[in-house]
Amino acid sequence: MTRKVFVKLLGLFALLLIFHAAVMELVFRQMLPAGPVDTFHRLTREALWSGLIALAAALPVAAWVAFGITGRLRQVVEFAHRIAAGDLTARLRTEDDELSSMESALNQTAVQLGQSFAEIENRRQELATMLDSMQEAVVAVTAEGQVRWSNSVMQRIAGTPIRAGRPLVHSVRDPDLLACVKGALETAEVKTGRSNSLAPGRIFEINAAPLPSGGAIAVLHDVTRVEAAERSRRDFIANVSHELRTPLTSIQGYVETLIETPAANPETAREFLCVIQKNARRMSRLTEDLLALAGVESPDYKLARQPMRANALVEDALESLGGLIVDSGVELESAGAPDELVLVDPDAMNQVFGNLIENALKYGGLGRKIRVGARKIHTDVEFFVQDFGPGIGSEHLDRIFERFYRIDKARSRESGGTGLGLAIVAQIVRAHGGRIWAESELGSGATFWFALPIAVPAAPVETSSKTASA
Ligand SMILES: Nc1ncnc2c1ncn2[C@@H]1O[C@H](COP(=O)(O)OP(=O)(O)O)[C@@H](O)[C@H]1O
Ligand SMILES: [Mg+2]
Repeated sequence: MTRKVFVKLLGLFALLLIFHAAVMELVFRQMLPAGPVDTFHRLTREALWSGLIALAAALPVAAWVAFGITGRLRQVVEFAHRIAAGDLTARLRTEDDELSSMESALNQTAVQLGQSFAEIENRRQELATMLDSMQEAVVAVTAEGQVRWSNSVMQRIAGTPIRAGRPLVHSVRDPDLLACVKGALETAEVKTGRSNSLAPGRIFEINAAPLPSGGAIAVLHDVTRVEAAERSRRDFIANVSHELRTPLTSIQGYVETLIETPAANPETAREFLCVIQKNARRMSRLTEDLLALAGVESPDYKLARQPMRANALVEDALESLGGLIVDSGVELESAGAPDELVLVDPDAMNQVFGNLIENALKYGGLGRKIRVGARKIHTDVEFFVQDFGPGIGSEHLDRIFERFYRIDKARSRESGGTGLGLAIVAQIVRAHGGRIWAESELGSGATFWFALPIAVPAAPVETSSKTASA
């Protein structure tokens, strides 16, 4: 390029020189008196030579100027290439001349471009972090159904990597999700749906919306827990209604009979009244247990916790619940307990031991012996109530802590059970930060365990009130 400019300059000078010689000859002919032709030629030649000398002197200067300008322009072109290639750190060297204002303007443009790109990148990262920290799964597709991007929850749910640029259908086979996305792409309207085949055991609500720039975005909200809670609420209401209706129907029947046949003999009337009383008691127990369960499950349930020795807790339970087994012929035995401290609400603990010992008596009483004790395991004290009755089948072991779950409904009802006792116990134990479970082998009895964390005393604990007052 520099060479071309230089050659052009050279040509221009040559033309100027010829033009200069012709003009000189004309001027000389006009100005000088007529003389020999030679004189004009000589004058013209001298003028030409002087022009050539001037040209020779001007040439390096012209070359220097031409090279200088084209060098700077080359730098501008290079700079433009670097910017186009994404290198926004490129800058032009500026000098104090006419080109410098253009160079400064270009530098300023590059600085502003850099700032804009940095801002866009920040926003993109913010958006990516936001999308990744969402509990919902999100996937965006192009108008052709190819993945634009997806957040980490979506990747986890899909189980296979969802790669940008590939059709969504290659990574996700769920027909409900694909139908929603397809619907949003085709109709440019929001489409909703539900999916239960995207991830095993999980239910999602799908919301697919078209994007203004083409394509669509699908948001998947996990409703598994909400559904389970709703199902459990429905089951609970159905169970309560059923449990109340049975004794109520019986009471209604006997009362109507008594009203309609007032002359029935007193013996029969008394028999009827006893049945009515039994059913009324059953309803009363049920409502009491329902209230107790609602109490311990309420977010406002407050425990009045205090540090107590595990062995003292076991002794208290045996002492206060000994009355339960009077006349039953069953022996209530202490199996010993460590001297560790646990933070407990004594009344709530009494409820726990009461329910477990009552169950042991009701369902395992044939074993003639019930053992109550505790052991220290790592940072926990594990309390237990053991009976030697028929035991519990392994298929029931986890479920007996559910509300209204009873292995033998008739037997439970006969013995005044409501099916809520273990649910209340489990909730109290959990409120203490503990765990509860049952172990059993059919025919060899059942052991109910609950573990509570050992408390670290903040201050020396008095072993008994007597010592304290002495
Ligand atoms: N010690 C035990 N031995 C055998 N089965 C038991 C024992 N404790 C509880 N169960 C079973 O667990 C079920 C649930 O107990 P629970 O919630 O206390 O309800 P309820 O005693 O009112 O029936 C009982 O109906 C019974 O079938
Ligand atoms: Mg019970």
